[in-house]
Amino acid sequence: MEFNLRPASEQDRGFLYALHCQTMRDVIENTWGWDEAWQRRDFDRRFREYLTSIIECDGRAVGGLLLEWKPDSLYIHELQLLPEYQSQGIGTGGIGKAIEQAAARRLPVTLSVVPANPRAQHLYERLGFKVTAIEPPFIRMRYRGDGLKLE
Ligand SMILES: CC(C)(COP(=O)(O)OP(=O)(O)OC[C@H]1O[C@@H](n2cnc3c(N)ncnc32)[C@H](O)[C@@H]1OP(=O)(O)O)[C@@H](O)C(=O)NCCC(=O)NCCS
Repeated sequence: MEFNLRPASEQDRGFLYALHCQTMRDVIENTWGWDEAWQRRDFDRRFREYLTSIIECDGRAVGGLLLEWKPDSLYIHELQLLPEYQSQGIGTGGIGKAIEQAAARRLPVTLSVVPANPRAQHLYERLGFKVTAIEPPFIRMRYRGDGLKLE
């Protein structure tokens, strides 16, 4: 499915928090438990600190992508889609865009997933991400594009 990315603005904050609650609540509950006040605070921090994009289909906000340039990689903090837009290739496309941006700087893409989200881990593995560390509850993963000069 066709999609585009645009930078998020203050007006998108409510959509992104609702999306986080809708798509991540089960995984978070099964991993840490859900503390609404903590979730709200941490979401506001991420929204402030990371490069936040809205994923749009036909002009409608359908997802969010939060990235951070780290010294040695482009880190995907969040990738979430409304349920009715999942499993149509948009997530793969969003990860592809991150990989392109990172490759332009000759850097890998990194992310973390938790065991409570095996479908997401499966997607990352299928795309070529490799597990680099297990730091419970996190499984750290990295995509190393061909030709990238890494350690
Ligand atoms: C994970 C996610 C971003 C993938 O994007 P997508 O557009 O649905 O994925 P694609 O269509 O490109 O690829 C399909 C694969 O995504 C994964 N996937 C699909 N729906 C998923 C869901 N609800 N939760 C986790 N992974 C999912 C599966 O591996 C699926 O492959 P399968 O159909 O063989 O099981 C999206 O499904 C989503 O927003 N999920 C809920 C939030 C989430 O788990 N985010 C990742 C946090 S680490």
